[in-house]
Amino acid sequence: MTTMDARSMGTSVRRIEGPDKVTGTAPYAGDTVADGTLVLYPVQATVARGEITAIDTSAATALPGVAAVVTHLDAPRLADDGDPEHRVLQGTTVHHRGQYVAAVLADHAEVAAEAARLVVVSYDEAPSTTGFDPDGGSYTPSALGNGQAPDSVVGDPDAALAAAPVVVKASYATPMEHHNPMEPHATTATWVDGRAIVHEASQGADLARQTLATLFDAEVEVSSPHVGGGFGTKGFLHAGTVLAVLAARTVPGRPVRFALGRRQMFETVGYRPATVQHMALGAEADGRLDALVHDVVGATARYKEFVEPAGGSSRSMYAAPHRRTSHRAVPLDLDAPTYMRAPGEAPGSFGLECAMDELAVALDMDPIELRVRNEPSVHPENGLPFSSRGLVECLRTGAERFGWSTWDRAPRRRLVDGWWHGVGVGCGTFPAFRMPGSTAEITFTGGRYVVAIGAADIGQGARTVLTQIAADALGVDVGSIEVEIGSTSLPVGSIAGGSAGTASWGSTVVEAADRFRDKYGEDPDDGDHADAATPDNPWAEEFAMAAYVAQFAEVAVHADTGEIRVPRLLGTFGVGRILNPTLGRSQLQGGMVWGLSMALHEESVVDPRFGEVINHDLAGYHIAANADVREIDAQWIDEDDGYVNPMGAKGIGEIGIVGVAAAIANATYHATGVRVRSLPITCDDLL
Ligand code: MOS
Repeated sequence: MTTMDARSMGTSVRRIEGPDKVTGTAPYAGDTVADGTLVLYPVQATVARGEITAIDTSAATALPGVAAVVTHLDAPRLADDGDPEHRVLQGTTVHHRGQYVAAVLADHAEVAAEAARLVVVSYDEAPSTTGFDPDGGSYTPSALGNGQAPDSVVGDPDAALAAAPVVVKASYATPMEHHNPMEPHATTATWVDGRAIVHEASQGADLARQTLATLFDAEVEVSSPHVGGGFGTKGFLHAGTVLAVLAARTVPGRPVRFALGRRQMFETVGYRPATVQHMALGAEADGRLDALVHDVVGATARYKEFVEPAGGSSRSMYAAPHRRTSHRAVPLDLDAPTYMRAPGEAPGSFGLECAMDELAVALDMDPIELRVRNEPSVHPENGLPFSSRGLVECLRTGAERFGWSTWDRAPRRRLVDGWWHGVGVGCGTFPAFRMPGSTAEITFTGGRYVVAIGAADIGQGARTVLTQIAADALGVDVGSIEVEIGSTSLPVGSIAGGSAGTASWGSTVVEAADRFRDKYGEDPDDGDHADAATPDNPWAEEFAMAAYVAQFAEVAVHADTGEIRVPRLLGTFGVGRILNPTLGRSQLQGGMVWGLSMALHEESVVDPRFGEVINHDLAGYHIAANADVREIDAQWIDEDDGYVNPMGAKGIGEIGIVGVAAAIANATYHATGVRVRSLPITCDDLL
């Protein structure tokens, strides 16, 4: 299958809203402050589990400047949409510390915050469990966060392991981690004539609209023109948005603004749950896998299930006649976990790719050769051929560029100026798919094509790339295209999620452009118009479709202090056609920086006495900063995959993070001879 002709696609068109962003004129959800706006400050539960027995708002209400204090006693009733996170101020039950139990509205932020402190809430506290103990009682979830079944079995993995000449068994741990987009969540909501008008920091305005319309049984408009990062936490709505719209309903006509502080980002908007991954690999002496087992135990919330699909990529990465993946969940009295960049693949690749490295050591084999030897010819579980699969080429070209062969395979060999140096590789995959349900409209007006679709630009460059796609599909220059996105006043758009935004909206725009050209040719009249819904991918059931990466890391560990540095990172990607090299490289490198951060820094620490993340700010929750990142390079192989979509582009939003932590852990072993199986890797692991 060939892809459509590209003229603009594949070139680095400059980010369309770039000047607005760097001059501070691009409006974000929390920026839309009209006259008379009330500021919302929440009251949050101070127990991890229990019932509210009394709530005294008299002192708060008496404070000058306070317009309203809303509690479960007087909050408008919401319809039940089946999501417990959306039952905001609907009853007395506390599911987690930090849960919103009241909201104060005031003219000024300081007054609202002070009044919130004056609200007295009494609780009947119940015993809670908030510390993750993988052996502490788990259950089999009904489904994983990505909708897949929790377990899969091919053949007889236990018997194959027992018979295998070389076996590696080890357990790997990944911690709770929190999304920290530059822009915390923000909502500005106004009720006008029974209709809610909402400015929301969202990965999908229409999904937000649908959710709010259901909860409030009302007409809702959502706009989300610019979003300062999402990473999964701005996909499905969290309690704060519901709280803002709910509180606004009590003061009709007045805008209510709720902009979360950084601390609240650790309390109410989800996170990546902790996992322990029990790996077992059995192989022949030549490296061919007989058995691959990936048994995951992960944390979830007692009141709302979300299970990180960490064993998912072990279903497709390598050939093995005998295989098992399983997922068990440990329920905790915490805020509910959610999707976070490469949910499943990011932590799961740590377990699988570190175990593969340990197997290479046990076999005394090059870890790249081990992976090449286990390259499957078809998807190992469902037997489908791959639409394209660039893993081996990524490994080969990446190894060449990285200078892999110049390193002695034995660990702890290279000491330079007091630093132990080593290299490691880690691989990964991420599915390439298309979400249904978008509509694109193209109107020729004033000599330009206006392309309207409710897509979301969360910083990835959707506005720019959709302009390029539309230009090529219509056969015109990008200057003739105007793309409108980010609002429910436009035709419906699916969310920026699952690394499927560009594939979904782009396929829809191409379909609308084809119809436009069929109807009007290349010389349209003013007002000519065509629209289209997202076409199904006719190949979706015929092929396994995914992106691949090989990540290479060089690590330096200080011989005396154990300080870990990452002087070099190289990601080699097989992700189909890169539509805009500047934006694409930026997105892939951003994922890799997060992978480095995951490897060495990120960990949310819960104090089980209180059920609270105690390092709930960017002073305590460390993320990689500029000084942590040295040479970092994202490259891609030439891949043209017409089966995935007409543009030939696989999603690149998430795969950048996948495999990086394993590459760094494996390089750390190579540098020092110390195998660390728990993230983040810190100095004390190496002393
Ligand atoms: Mo992504 S974690 O599907 O927003």
